[in-house]
Amino acid sequence: MYRNWIVKLTSRARFSTICLHAGQEPDPSTGAIITPIYQTSTYVQEALGRHKGFEYGRTQNPTRMALEGNLSAIEGGKAGFAFASGMAAIGAIATLLKSGDHVVVSDNTYGGTFRLFDKVLRRYDLAFTYVDTSKLDEVERAFTPATRMLFVETPTNPVMRITDLHAAADLAHRHDVRLVVDNTFASPYIQRPIEFGADLVTHSTTKYLNGHSDSVGGIVIAVRDDDIEWLKFVQNAEGAILGPFDSWLVLRGTKTLALRMQQHSANGLALARFLSTHPKVGQVYYPGLPTHPQHELAKRQMNGFGGMLAFDLGSLEAARSLLNAVRLHALAESLGGVETLISHPATMTHASVPADRRAAIGITDGLVRISAGIEDIDDLVDDLAQALDRV
Ligand SMILES: Cc1ncc(COP(=O)(O)O)c(C=O)c1O
Repeated sequence: MYRNWIVKLTSRARFSTICLHAGQEPDPSTGAIITPIYQTSTYVQEALGRHKGFEYGRTQNPTRMALEGNLSAIEGGKAGFAFASGMAAIGAIATLLKSGDHVVVSDNTYGGTFRLFDKVLRRYDLAFTYVDTSKLDEVERAFTPATRMLFVETPTNPVMRITDLHAAADLAHRHDVRLVVDNTFASPYIQRPIEFGADLVTHSTTKYLNGHSDSVGGIVIAVRDDDIEWLKFVQNAEGAILGPFDSWLVLRGTKTLALRMQQHSANGLALARFLSTHPKVGQVYYPGLPTHPQHELAKRQMNGFGGMLAFDLGSLEAARSLLNAVRLHALAESLGGVETLISHPATMTHASVPADRRAAIGITDGLVRISAGIEDIDDLVDDLAQALDRV
């Protein structure tokens, strides 16, 4: 029923081979090696009640289905569903809940996720408790008889706290709770939550999966048959689908995911090392540094440490001076593209999080976040060094 992605791959195919080929066959009409952009809203039917399995563009689109098969294989899931944005994907996951249900959420989850839960979904009699999910005893204490979902981001944005995915899955399942992991920050090259027991994985494909800062999208990858049935239904019923061109862009992006992530990780580590020895920089948050409190856990569940890091300059003034002085680092929201981005979480990505909550989760006014791109590392270090001279 769901498109089988294993077309020419053996069951032993390795990660980068899966990234390149899964979900894609040569186009049946021409043999085109790249899945075409099926930019069509409808499909001509051969006779009444007889068609090729494609009826209407919201329900089925070959480009989107190729991407869904590709990402599902990359994450080691059973089926994937692509949405118009990462937030639409998280919104679709939330439809698995019913009024009266309770969700435990990582306390420094992405600000937009907090806004969706707090400002929209609470109106539908859903309850959310925010805890530091790196402390599983606190997670267990937060569970109530109404808890149906544990929603985890790891590493968290932007202070890079890590949740033990294996232990979180065990705990959730002991309480008959689904474990959902937003894997946007790490990417599936770095970490595959389903292998640790997660029931659902979501991504803003806008970030590493697309990788080129030219598309907004989201994906949900599921393993449970009941979840797959429901998500397929909801994707069509609510209609927040990813369009064919964006699906094609993300498919192009995943072909180089492994290569890009190796460079993002190498640059992330080098920048974290540089910053941690600089006299004007306070705490540096990067799971690849031995000083990170969960470095050992990160080594166990991550393959490299990714391109995201944050560091504290002590004050808003210092952060402002640095952000105004960088030249190669682009001052911008978002992350995961090939070019390096720098941002100020307190006034940008986390502006919708109330100040007291920001303080509680370590998002100070002096905190600066970097999404390390794939430029030559010496150019990135030179740029940061000259900007720090002006702080
Ligand atoms: C971790 C995380 N999840 C979800 C989202 C939402 O994705 P989108 O912006 O594609 O809606 C973001 C966006 O920054 C994010 O960083």
